[in-house]
Amino acid sequence: MNNDGRESILRTINSSLQTRKLYPPKHPSVIGTIRRLQQQLSEFFRTKTKLVVAMVNDELVFDDIPVARGREDYPDLFTRMENKEIEALIFEKGVSEKELTSFIDVMLDDSIKGDNLKREFSKRDITHITVRSIGSGKGVFLRVYNDAIEVVKDTMNDIRMGKLPRAEPVKRVVGEMAELVLSDSSVMIGLTMIKNYDNYLYNHSVNVSIIGLSLGSFMGLEKEDLEVVGTAGLLHDIGKTGITEDIIKKPGSLSHEEWEQVKQHPVIGERIIKRINGMKELVARLVYEHHVRYDRTGYPEVKGDVHPLSMIVTIADSYDALTTLRVYQKPYQPSEAVKILKGLSGKHFDPLMVERFADMLGVYPVGTLVRLSTNEVGVVIRANPVDAERPVVKVVYDKEGNRLTEPFELDLAASPDAPQIVGSADPCAREFDLGDFFTKEVS
Ligand SMILES: [Fe+2]
Ligand SMILES: [Fe+2]
Repeated sequence: MNNDGRESILRTINSSLQTRKLYPPKHPSVIGTIRRLQQQLSEFFRTKTKLVVAMVNDELVFDDIPVARGREDYPDLFTRMENKEIEALIFEKGVSEKELTSFIDVMLDDSIKGDNLKREFSKRDITHITVRSIGSGKGVFLRVYNDAIEVVKDTMNDIRMGKLPRAEPVKRVVGEMAELVLSDSSVMIGLTMIKNYDNYLYNHSVNVSIIGLSLGSFMGLEKEDLEVVGTAGLLHDIGKTGITEDIIKKPGSLSHEEWEQVKQHPVIGERIIKRINGMKELVARLVYEHHVRYDRTGYPEVKGDVHPLSMIVTIADSYDALTTLRVYQKPYQPSEAVKILKGLSGKHFDPLMVERFADMLGVYPVGTLVRLSTNEVGVVIRANPVDAERPVVKVVYDKEGNRLTEPFELDLAASPDAPQIVGSADPCAREFDLGDFFTKEVS
């Protein structure tokens, strides 16, 4: 179905809203428009399983493609989505006339908005239509994080199947992550503590993007450069799709030939990105250069200058790798990882950027487990820009070392009597899952 076909679905949703406003539910016009909508949708679902109508920057977007005509052509749908704080409506294959009737009624009820919409949908048995709301607390952070994982997965799977991936979903999700980093980078950095050992590559890609975006915004990059860094971070290891899985996941050390293959991933990555329509040249360059290193001891060989933004991706990549459990390495605590980066300043990393990175994260970066003067143990959830020694923590173990069922927040700068940090604690020894902790923080 072409774009016009999809737009006619929008038109019918809009006229269903208009008609139902004028007539009672059993009126032939109401029944007629809803029936037409159901037919158009089932036609659409002959080849697809999902239809996403989203609102992005005051524009209606259909499966990541902006709708040609906007507010003027679909005024009812537009205002209803706006008033109800709906970011996206997701229609799924199998949606019935009955569900559409209830959906239109809910949309016209002014008293239902935000999170109540979800409750109302399930109350009325609307199971094939879901809503994503704007500003539903911190949940949006986790939603975007998970969405980014899906986008990386789809992109890599497309490549593995010989298909050329689309740039739009990548651009959308990077834009969303950039916005959230600007609104609260601590929450986003916290989420990078989610490490998935089975699907390392997907989480690693998203984490590198977030860390790169955070450092980039801390350094005051323009929006355009920021998005380049975020995109390159997300796709930096995309070339690994061209290398056999056995080598990528091999636990032991690699043979010379295997290592030579791994070293090809930035080159393969650059080639893939250059072929994707709508992807910036610079993104490809950053991907090509992410292992070159400041002192050029990395790979591949680069004759001219290395782009300064490449160095952001390099730092983000190393930081995430260091803080992740690997077969050959136990994860470093965030504060230890920063020390290691500093030790390689001027060698692998640009000294000024490492400096900025350390400034951004503070002495006790978000995600560090710390022991307090009270003998309690907490997780750093927010840095203190004024006094780096006194961040905000969430206490997770009491004085006796018992895990708290209800962790509580403690601002170590709130008063002079507030407890102090006396050292760090080892999450591995306590089997404390930081990813789990930060997931709960935003749920
Ligand atoms: Fe890499
Ligand atoms: Fe990487």
